[in-house]
Amino acid sequence: MKDGHMRDIRYLRLSVTDLCNYRCQYCMAPEGVEKRPHSEILSVEECVEIGDAAVACGIRKIRLTGGEPLVRRGIVDICQGLSELNGLEELCLTTNGSLLPQLAGPLRRAGADRLNLSLDTLRPQRFQEITRLGSLGQVLDGIQAAEEAGFSRLKLNVVLMGGVNDDEIPDFIELTRTHPWEVRFIELMPMGPCAGWERSRFLSADEVLRRFSGLVPLKDSGVARRFQVPGWAGTVGLIEPMSHRFCSSCDRIRITADGRLKACLHSRQELKLRGLHGEALREAIRRGIASKPERHHLTEDGSETPRCMNEIGG
Ligand code: 5AD
Ligand code: SF4
Repeated sequence: MKDGHMRDIRYLRLSVTDLCNYRCQYCMAPEGVEKRPHSEILSVEECVEIGDAAVACGIRKIRLTGGEPLVRRGIVDICQGLSELNGLEELCLTTNGSLLPQLAGPLRRAGADRLNLSLDTLRPQRFQEITRLGSLGQVLDGIQAAEEAGFSRLKLNVVLMGGVNDDEIPDFIELTRTHPWEVRFIELMPMGPCAGWERSRFLSADEVLRRFSGLVPLKDSGVARRFQVPGWAGTVGLIEPMSHRFCSSCDRIRITADGRLKACLHSRQELKLRGLHGEALREAIRRGIASKPERHHLTEDGSETPRCMNEIGG
């Protein structure tokens, strides 16, 4: 359905947990997040019920996010339930990849269509520093498992951080020479732990174009500006929440792991969905879509929302 600003809202990002097995420096405190009682988090059945209602309101694509969605018990059942919904065209997940060696096959068989992987560095030592708990080898195995399970056209999300990983821009683009992947550089947003980081860490995605010549523009898709080195197998995407406002083409809403609809990532406004069923649930989702703000108010000084990314799901 259309929101109040003539945008057709077709895409739901559903967070299935705020927990994660990594502690990326920009996303989480070293001690992680306090584990909440299961009862505060949407159950498998609630996730599917909400997905069903969202599809009735015009949603055509659902992405499962976290935290890390693959640490959520029941993630395969959630995929199975959602993929069976009539009218849903695409079911995707955004994952850190660490559990894909075990889960890529089951997720694919449960009907997941596409995967985005978060990968901020290709260097093992640096990977460990950024994620605190992660191992690069595991994620590379995860990527291989995903391809073997039949996930094609993977997207790799790289959060750009000045002085941390910006020297790897060419290495990441080089991956697209032979792999049919989209490498997406994402501008770091000042939320949660990184809100107080020094300004030099925050790079404009234009930096990618400055540091790598030979990228030619393709048609934009959703909130990404897209490019390619002519003749190479993959593509490059720039996601620019800070320097290029993409709000006018934003077609998404979000639901947090505790069941609150957020029409905009950076807004304080939330709409409680738990306890609603049938027409009341659909009506609440429609109200949420209708109230989507025209644009976000994310500035260098931070986001309006008091929540962190692991709660909202990227
Ligand atoms: N700024 C930009 N991207 C972020 N992500 C998490 N926190 C931030 C932030 N502050 C990214 C993750 C993942 C996606 C879900 O969101 O790296 O790729
Ligand atoms: Fe986990 Fe993703 Fe946050 Fe890293 S960015 S700690 S992988 S939720």
